[in-house]
Amino acid sequence: ATHRIAVIPGDGIGTEVVPEGLRILEAAASAFDFQLDYEQFHYASADYYTKTGTMLPDGWFDQLNRFDSIFFGAVGWPDVVPDHISLWGSLLQFRRHFDQYVSLRPVKLLPGITSPLAGREPGDVDFYVVRENTEGEYSSIGGKIFEGTDRETVIQETVMTRTGVDRILKYAFDLAQSRPKKHLTSATKSNGISISMPYWDQRVEAMAQNFADVAVDKYHIDILTANFVLHPDWFDVVVASNLFGDILSDLGPACTGTIGVAPSGNINPERKFPSLFEPVHGSAPDIAGKGIANPIGQIWSASMMLEHLGETEAAAAVMTAVEDVLAVGGDTLTPDMGGTATTKTLGEAVRRQFETN
Ligand code: NAI
Ligand code: MG
Repeated sequence: ATHRIAVIPGDGIGTEVVPEGLRILEAAASAFDFQLDYEQFHYASADYYTKTGTMLPDGWFDQLNRFDSIFFGAVGWPDVVPDHISLWGSLLQFRRHFDQYVSLRPVKLLPGITSPLAGREPGDVDFYVVRENTEGEYSSIGGKIFEGTDRETVIQETVMTRTGVDRILKYAFDLAQSRPKKHLTSATKSNGISISMPYWDQRVEAMAQNFADVAVDKYHIDILTANFVLHPDWFDVVVASNLFGDILSDLGPACTGTIGVAPSGNINPERKFPSLFEPVHGSAPDIAGKGIANPIGQIWSASMMLEHLGETEAAAAVMTAVEDVLAVGGDTLTPDMGGTATTKTLGEAVRRQFETN
């Protein structure tokens, strides 16, 4: 098979870790006998903004829409372009126009990484957060009245459509069904939010009818966050609305150590449009240019992209190589993991391990 990939390094350490992601993708293509047809784009960056005054060129949609996936680094350089412009002018456009309604984040403790949760070991923490990425609490419906008076009032509505809720639940149930534990947890708050959240619960119950082999439970978001920290071993697939998912998808990876290793997918499961894979971290201006950024988040994102493209064995082999290198640890690790290695040294070590395995 041939997979067409648009590569967008973006800003700061994005431009340093993306080449390490490509290095492992190329090794995977030759080992597992598929073709990668990729092209790099230098928009969605502060440099491009400085030259043009916009983050994306006219015609970006048609240009990127020809690809199967987008492999993204990080965007943002606050000294040059305000963060709300860099984000709304690029990533959020991709999410909306390519209908990437699933935000997927693995929460998995890798060997050699110390979890901030005391006493936890790899195997204790291994689940996914599935966040609804297009509606819910993040609507722009609402308004402000009596501004500047003591009757000043602001309202912002939550929007849940049956299509929007059911499609994220379907994705999460399918994912749960594909995993050994077959366990789905729903994040809710139907004891306090009395219209939208009971509706969410009701759609979870309806969807569960189609998945008799998946065990389902639900927690209110407040106790759920506590349980992420206290009992991460309770979870397998956790599905949540946009706001709750936003919170859980930062809390989850924070429980598994450095932000430098966490990956994410913004997915259009029907493959009508390209999906986008990127590390959770940003452009890290504080360490950019030093060559010491951790490339594991980008490499893990490459593995998620391979999984999405149907290259399941290659995706697993990439993660085995990552885990083997991290388990040995020592100097091959970047400074954020306690070692002295550069981005390139660690990326190269993962590639060599991949070829040895
Ligand atoms: P950040 O994730 O860039 O950095 C936070 C801290 O984590 C920094 O101390 C940084 O050095 C460290 N860090 C991040 N990635 C690392 C890696 N791979 N290896 C070692 N250390 C790493 O978040 P921050 O500083 O809040 O944002 C910087 C810029 O990035 C802003 O313009 C922000 O808008 C943008 N950003 C972009 C994202 C994206 O492209 N999806 C996500 C988050 C932030
Ligand atoms: Mg967030």
